[in-house]
Amino acid sequence: MSILFNPFKIQNLELRNRFVRSATYDGIADENGRVSDSQIKLFSDLADGGVGLIISGITYVHHTGQISPFHNSIADDESIPEFQKLIKVVHQRGAKIAIQLFHGGKECKYLKTKNVLPLAPSIINNDPYYSGEYREITDSEIWEVINAFGDGAKRAKEAGFDAVQVHGAHAYLLSQFLSPFTNRRQDQWGGSLQNRLRLHCEIYKNIREKVGEDYPVFIKLGVEDGFFGGLQFDEGKESAILLAKLGFDSLEISLGLRGNRYEGTEYKSHITSLEKEAYYRAWCREIKSQLDVPIMIVGGLRSLALMEEIIQNNEADCVSLCRPFICEPSLVNDWKTNKHKKLKCISCNKCVDAIYKGRQIDCILTTPQVV
Ligand SMILES: Cc1cc2nc3c(=O)[nH]c(=O)nc-3n(C[C@H](O)[C@H](O)[C@H](O)COP(=O)(O)O)c2cc1C
Repeated sequence: MSILFNPFKIQNLELRNRFVRSATYDGIADENGRVSDSQIKLFSDLADGGVGLIISGITYVHHTGQISPFHNSIADDESIPEFQKLIKVVHQRGAKIAIQLFHGGKECKYLKTKNVLPLAPSIINNDPYYSGEYREITDSEIWEVINAFGDGAKRAKEAGFDAVQVHGAHAYLLSQFLSPFTNRRQDQWGGSLQNRLRLHCEIYKNIREKVGEDYPVFIKLGVEDGFFGGLQFDEGKESAILLAKLGFDSLEISLGLRGNRYEGTEYKSHITSLEKEAYYRAWCREIKSQLDVPIMIVGGLRSLALMEEIIQNNEADCVSLCRPFICEPSLVNDWKTNKHKKLKCISCNKCVDAIYKGRQIDCILTTPQVV
């Protein structure tokens, strides 16, 4: 049997295999940000399908971090009972579940419908990658957000999540702080790498204080921006090393700020050959060679044999997939019975288009299309 199907331990968290469902925003929370019946069904299908660890979609920890009306919240205690229902369903089916703690920074354009301006580290004039109004976050607001991450983690633990994953990738607040392109601050939160990474470190410390030493705390980290002039890999790698040394129990390695769609994003499209798969493999290999903490590889993983090779070569510890699970939640069990099974997912990114248009998650291969 492939190494991928063997149980694996991250800190004290025992997984039935090395497959992870990478965080996937689904746009189907109810209008108060609570877990919906559709989400219970979706997570139950995933757990039934054999995946070891499910990472929830982005879940905002503070009201200024919300990106849509159908976005899950863990910003208050009332969210706990609904999460408990979801966790129970997943555990009954033998999978583990982590929650992804999130703040969207200036990507929270939805806030404008509530007459609130999104927050960002700095104002960037003539930004080719962003249009719209936002304002600079103040020092006291930064501490409020840090505290909210800690409180969110405390609630997650109370609800019964097996771990938390801090979202430190893609276009969102933590990446906005880490990138020298979007962070032009001249206070303790900007300038040197140490200052740009201070938000990540303070969030970790706040979480750790509230969940205790033994609770698994992960991060998805963007280690390079998708455009020239942004965060470069040497600093991304150094950040990964610093965060692992600080105490994060696992790192999922991904992109920082996005560049052009879709080549400069974390969801590259049309992965039609082996060469296009595992597009962050080199980053993982390099980071893994310097660290002892488990590394999750994500981004274009499609062939079982390639994933096996990556794990066997010690380039990563777990394989994390998103789009393939959208159309085939039973993927892991299917592979178990037929290792030559080809994925249905063609990385066409219609699922991403649906989310960008404010619709719920969707796949053209499984949902009849209205023309
Ligand atoms: C519809 C959709 C929603 C996503 N939502 C999230 C999310 O909530 N949090 C996150 O960190 N990444 C999110 N991602 C990125 C994925 O987790 C993953 O990093 C990326 O899609 C590459 O993996 P894949 O090739 O297996 O799809 C999303 C991707 C898609 C396609």
